[in-house]
Amino acid sequence: MQSRRSCLAILLAAGEGTRMKSRQPKVLHQVGGRSLLAHALASLAEAGADTVVVVVGPDRPEVARQAQTLLPHTQIVVQSERRGTAHAALAARDTLGAGFDDVIVAFADTPLVRPETFLALRAALAEGASVVALGFEARDPTGYGRLVMRDGVLDAIVEHKDATSDQRAITLCNAGLMALDGRHALSILEAIGNANAQSEYYLTDAVAVARARGLVSSSLKAPETEVQGVNDRIQLAAAEAEFQRRKRLAVMAGGATLTAPDTVFFSHDTQVGRDVLIEPHVVFGPGVRIADGAVIHAFSHLEGAEVGPAATVGPFGRLRPGARLAENAKVGNFVEIKSAEIGAGAKVSHLTYIGDATVGADANIGAGTITCNYDGFFKYRTTIGAGAFVGSNSSLVAPITIGEGAFVGSGSVVTEDVAPDALAVARGRQVAKEGWAKTFREASLARKAAAKKP
Ligand code: UD1
Ligand code: CA
Repeated sequence: MQSRRSCLAILLAAGEGTRMKSRQPKVLHQVGGRSLLAHALASLAEAGADTVVVVVGPDRPEVARQAQTLLPHTQIVVQSERRGTAHAALAARDTLGAGFDDVIVAFADTPLVRPETFLALRAALAEGASVVALGFEARDPTGYGRLVMRDGVLDAIVEHKDATSDQRAITLCNAGLMALDGRHALSILEAIGNANAQSEYYLTDAVAVARARGLVSSSLKAPETEVQGVNDRIQLAAAEAEFQRRKRLAVMAGGATLTAPDTVFFSHDTQVGRDVLIEPHVVFGPGVRIADGAVIHAFSHLEGAEVGPAATVGPFGRLRPGARLAENAKVGNFVEIKSAEIGAGAKVSHLTYIGDATVGADANIGAGTITCNYDGFFKYRTTIGAGAFVGSNSSLVAPITIGEGAFVGSGSVVTEDVAPDALAVARGRQVAKEGWAKTFREASLARKAAAKKP
């Protein structure tokens, strides 16, 4: 589906974002565990943009830094004064002059535009349009630019503030982003003036400029949910909801069962295999991969983790970054795993912390086991061999190795390595005193009775 035409994307990210009431630039706020900026860049890259220019505001080095980390070839230009969307696009003037077949101008605060939509805009250019706008039917058109159509063709885009009351009755609104024929883009943008209600250079006027030159404009339609912008925290939550809706559908389409999809939250990069069962109320932070046949029981939280084929997690499981479960491994309720590999078929069933560790295949870790991995300054590793059995309520003081097939007696505090197939018991030896309880009880009852006498 990728076009062989060259494509420049200009991503406007010079927003003020004051309505977010945040110290952080608006476009660095996150949806699905990655920034709005990252969503926009990923979608443009997938739509075949070979050159990307991000237009940032002054004093926003974080935005430039993140854009360059995400897409190393990104060019950064600064729009020092906010004078409108066409003015912002012209900050990329030098690159525009280099000559491209297609030019896309997109907004970094509109994170959910799909690559397919950008490709459709490019296809309309390939079919001969000089300017292609993207429209949507707005539930509430107030504030948006309106697409004015004549005989089914895009005639002009009129900003709300400049619109007549007839034009304000139009519900087909401008999503904002636009595609322009690279041969004309620079000269069209340069011809745009600022004689309007806001004295701004409007990108939307590209349509009128093109028409005056006898060039054709066209428009496509997208669902409102795809082109919703983020200006405040409420819209951020709306974008998150739409992102989650899409991701849940994609995961189910990929062959996983979600018992209650609306209660499961994914990250942009969550990978889920086939025949996976995800029970209600599960949260996936970034960097999780779930292999085929795995089961994630209810109320689990996973982040930076890999769950192997047919492995199970939870209910109430917590996998932190670096947790890797091999095939058929089992991590049960109230278990936390961090930076640790759990071998094939190994079981860590209840109330346990395994951090900075390697657990061999088929090992069994009893309830309440703790790897004591941290001394307040440094972290140390625990190695548990294949087939080892760690009795309940044991503390394994790292660095330590429990050999293959070894046993650790329940309640042990293990501070020294245990040889393969050995038994380590590290707790007070049991002392049995015959009849002690009976004697104690009788003596105590007698004392109590004596004390009650007047
Ligand atoms: C714009 C469109 C409007 C459309 C609406 C959709 C124009 C003139 N109008 O209006 O038709 O319905 O989006 O949301 O294009 N920006 C800069 N520098 C500037 C001005 C804007 O980088 O000088 C960036 C903003 O950060 C934002 C985007 O461009 O990401 C849109 O700007 P904004 O001022 O929000 O445009 P609207 O008035 O909403
Ligand atoms: Ca806006």
